[in-house]
This record gives sequence, C-alpha cells and structure tokens, in this order.
Amino acid sequence: MIWLNLLIFVLLAAGHTELMVTLVNRVHALRIRRETLRHLRHAHDLLLVAFPVVLVGWFGFGGPGLLTGGQWADLPRGWWLYFGLCGMGFVGLLISSLQHLLRPIPKAQITNHSHTIDIATRLGYAPLVDGPYRRMANVPGNEIFQLEVSEKVYRLPQLPQEWDGLSVLHLSDLHFIGTVDRPFFEQVIDIAGDMQADLIVFTGDLLDRQELVSWLPETLGRLSARLGCYFILGNHDWEHGLNPDETRQALSDLGWQDTAGKTVCIEHNGRTLAIGGSECPWMGEHPDFSNLSDDAFRLLLSHTPDNLPWARQQQIDLMLSGHNHGGQVVLPGIGPVYAPSRFGVRYASGVFWEDPTLLYVTRGISGQYPLRLNCRPELTKLILRSPELDLGEATAVGVQTDNQILASV
Ligand SMILES: [Fe+2]
Repeated sequence: MIWLNLLIFVLLAAGHTELMVTLVNRVHALRIRRETLRHLRHAHDLLLVAFPVVLVGWFGFGGPGLLTGGQWADLPRGWWLYFGLCGMGFVGLLISSLQHLLRPIPKAQITNHSHTIDIATRLGYAPLVDGPYRRMANVPGNEIFQLEVSEKVYRLPQLPQEWDGLSVLHLSDLHFIGTVDRPFFEQVIDIAGDMQADLIVFTGDLLDRQELVSWLPETLGRLSARLGCYFILGNHDWEHGLNPDETRQALSDLGWQDTAGKTVCIEHNGRTLAIGGSECPWMGEHPDFSNLSDDAFRLLLSHTPDNLPWARQQQIDLMLSGHNHGGQVVLPGIGPVYAPSRFGVRYASGVFWEDPTLLYVTRGISGQYPLRLNCRPELTKLILRSPELDLGEATAVGVQTDNQILASV
C-alpha cells in the first residue's frame, strides 16, 4: 500500500506540473510585458518544487501519514479537490504526449531533406561571450550551434501552375542578446545566402538588446532574393527598453520590406502574391486581405501561430510563424513542454494543414535562453509545388525524410 501511495504521489506531482505548465504557457501567449511575466514564472518555479515536498513531507510522513500506513480517508476534504485536478492534469499530459508522438505529417508535404551543420566546428570555436544566461550554454547536450538546414517540398492547392517550384526561405527568432556572439549569426546568414530562394521572410524576434541593431548590416542585411525580403517583428522586439520603430527603419534601410499590419502585393508571372504580416497580439493590427481577387495567393507572416484561426477565416494559403522555438527542450516520450501559446505545445514547431491553410512553424535560429535540448535551431527553405504536379510524379518523389549530420561543412 505504501508503494502504491508513492506511485500515486508521483502521478499527482506529474499532474500538478502539467497544470502549472499549462497556466504558464497560456499566460505567456498574452500581451504582457516580460517584467510582469517574470513574477509569474517565479511563482511557477516555487510551486513546481514545493508540491512534491508538501506531498511527501505533509501527507506522506505527517498528517494522514500515507507513506507510513495512514489512510486516504484522513486526507482533508479541500485537498481532494486539488488532487482531482492533478489527476485531470496527468490525463492531459498523457493525451498531449500521445498527440505529439502520433501526429501525422500532412499529405501536403512531399519531401523533407535536411542536414545539420555544427557552427562551432565550422568556426573552430564556440561563439559565446559573457552575457545573459551564459551558464545555460554549458548544459551537456546543448544544441544551440547545431543548425538544421532543411529543404521541404509542399503541394499547395492554390499555388498557380506558373509558380510551380517557387521557393521561400524562412528565418525567425534570431534573438540578438549578446551571449551567442555575432559570428554565429554571420555563419547562419552565409548558409542562408547559399540556399538561393526566390523569396526570403523573417517572422520576428530579432533583438533582445536594442544596441545590437548594429549587427544587422553584417547579418540580415547581406541577404537578397529576386522577389524580395519581407519581415515582421515579434514580442521580444516590443519589450520594455526596445525600440521597434528603430528596428523597422534599420531593416528597411537594408532593403527589407516591412509587412506588419499591411499587405504587400507582388505580380509574378502574371499572378498576384499578397504578403501580409501580423504582429498581433503585441503590436498593430492584422493585415487586410479583403480587397484581393479570389485567385491571389495569400501568404501570411505571423509571429505567433496562435493567429491560425484568423488566418483560416481570411483564406490564407500559406502561413509562416516562429515564436514557440519548438519548445527549446523536448523530452523523450513526452515532447516539448513549454511554448508561449494559447494552444500550449500543439503548434510548437512543424507543419500543419488546417483547411484552407498550410501552417509552417519554425523552431527558429536562437532564443533569449541559450539552451536547446533535442530541439536544434532551424533554417528552412520551403519549395512550393502546384496541384498540377501529377500523382505519378508525387509517388516517384515519394514522401521522403532524411537527416544527415555534418559535423563540419
Ligand atoms: Fe522568439
């Protein structure tokens, strides 16, 4: 009976953790400044540690003595309610983990080829300097420099036949904070430039320190594409002490087009590509897609994938997002835990088809915290195929996935 009670304690602690994580994830999706969120996170950390201590100390060995032969009937009534919630939290954790493990890849994805480049090996040293959260970088197994470079092919129902093969390079979440040093980002940009996409987009979270806007000419400023470079900013660019207007101007001066809260139209091979940007809920408003012809292809850059329901209402064909960083720490058998989203970890990263929108969420390049476990930084080129691609060709190409590790390139 004591061992059974100990097992129940473990399940209750897991359920309690899931409840705390669920709350923190949802609150971090809101338009709340980092300083305020920090207090919530401290409370979350305290409660995470305190609950198992209370379980074992108070209910196990004190009070009802459930680890010394006591009875559950002696548990105070108020705790039954919270233990019931913890039980529901544990069931939620199981469902979330199963959804992560069993989530199918949408049929729209035809191929996925990727390789990993160790930027530290490529440079000959780890590009780290003293800065915020520097010690996190020393965690064994940290993958912050293991850049996964991918080419993914998608078949999209609305893509004009004339655009078959159109490519979009998607960068997000550079998070210049100073701990990961500029040479890392310069290497990433070198690799991005070699990928030769038709269109380049950046989906927000550029700066955590405003003065590092000075890194832009040697990073994003070196990229160009025949159909242009487009950007939005993210919640970190909006934080207290940051100046999003200055950041927008700096990127615009380097040839990037700001799409925040508006729709930019490009005529390409006789068809219209409408690119809109949304920084909601942190800045501005959603772009207006209402005055477009029905056959215009609609591309939405949205920092958070939480805007997917709105995107579907607007008949968005392709939505590109970042923000969630893939969770940054992905636990074996459980999946990502933390994602600042009202959907929790559901859209932490990856590709999702929710008719009529294909959503791609990148894990991004970096983060405020220099820690990634089982969750490499990502640089992805999406190659778009039109529905006229016949099934015979699709079968010949097959649904391929590979990942080649290149220690030094
Ligand atoms: Fe971010």
